[in-house]
Amino acid sequence: MAFELPELPFPYDALEPFMSRETLEYHHDKHHKAYVDGANKLIAGTGLENKSLEQVVVASHRDPRLRKLFNNAGQHWNHSQFWKCLKADGSRSVPDEIAKRIDADLGGLGKFKKDFVAEGVADFGSGWVWLVLDAGKLKILTTANAESPLILGKTPLLTCDVWEHAYYIDYRNQREKFLQAFVDHLIDWEHVAELYGKAGERQAAA
Ligand code: FE2
Repeated sequence: MAFELPELPFPYDALEPFMSRETLEYHHDKHHKAYVDGANKLIAGTGLENKSLEQVVVASHRDPRLRKLFNNAGQHWNHSQFWKCLKADGSRSVPDEIAKRIDADLGGLGKFKKDFVAEGVADFGSGWVWLVLDAGKLKILTTANAESPLILGKTPLLTCDVWEHAYYIDYRNQREKFLQAFVDHLIDWEHVAELYGKAGERQAAA
């Protein structure tokens, strides 16, 4: 089944002034779409055509001959996660269960924000910053290019795209300002809590 570009879960101008309509028109309609189109083209003849996107990402990462497919499928998956992490007027309240875990594992919300921004600034070149669940603990990590916690066997709960195309229109070269706006105004913590709850259910069922 062909991959499809998901709709944004909010109007294009919903995140202004922190992420503009113009950024989202380019980022979603052009960059993300190009990865979807690329993945659909490159998957032909690989034997992975009927696999889920997650399975394609993991399988193509393991096979150096499928590097181009991995880059496109990985970016399709990463962007699909990113849109769900964003919310107009976000970051205001953190559900209790996540707030408590951030206190216990990451030294509190203030330290989490500081470290998340610092990791994103330090991610050299193009990549992603993530909050993940790893062996039962919250951790912040970064990945390069199209890589993600999916290929590392960790559970992603939150991500921010730090490729230049994610912020250059609104923030020019100031990646730090973009990341600060993300942690202060754009995070959908309800979504993070939902993913955290599902991870707990999977662990309990295992
Ligand atoms: Fe992007």
